[in-house]
Amino acid sequence: MAPDRRCTEMLFFVIIIASSSAAAAGDIVEDTCGECSRSNPNVNYTLCVSSLSGYPGSRGANLHGLALISAMPLRSGLATIASEARVLRDRAPPGSPARSCLESCMEVFRDAAYNLGNAVTAIESWRYGDAKTAMSATTDAPVTCEDEFKGQGMATPPAIMAKTKPLFQQGVISLAIISLL
Ligand SMILES: *[C@@H]1O[C@H](CO)[C@@H](O)[C@H](O)[C@H]1NC(C)=O
Repeated sequence: MAPDRRCTEMLFFVIIIASSSAAAAGDIVEDTCGECSRSNPNVNYTLCVSSLSGYPGSRGANLHGLALISAMPLRSGLATIASEARVLRDRAPPGSPARSCLESCMEVFRDAAYNLGNAVTAIESWRYGDAKTAMSATTDAPVTCEDEFKGQGMATPPAIMAKTKPLFQQGVISLAIISLL
């Protein structure tokens, strides 16, 4: 084979590889969210795509990177719901059952934030089993808070209620992505 011809073939090969990886990178968010929602009907595909693609770097990320990115909406969601619980707690009369429920919820959200940190550390060090355990604990937090009120025969305050479902759904998405690793 003439060196010239070999060089041309090599160039074609490089172009094919480059263009196929570019196409894969462009669809990583949709592909991953699609795979997650097929394997787990609780995964909200629309929320998955919109929350992940909002972060810079998500389009060029691999699965490992996407798992880390999926923890970010949870971090901000937990911070928001925790500060909501604090505001309500400060307004509740001292010694009231509502106040004690809100205090329990604040503790639940603090633990959830701690577990989320552990989940991220575990992903970063490729300990995916540990990541799943920690992320499951994080995902349970909104329901655990609601149960505090149920246990007292009280309705969960609407301001908390409005944030528990989206938070839970983000947790389910993150858990589904970790499960693909
Ligand atoms: C899924 O997420 C979208 C976007 O956040 C939301 O509008 C929709 O209500 C969610 N669907 C369910 C079933 O929760």
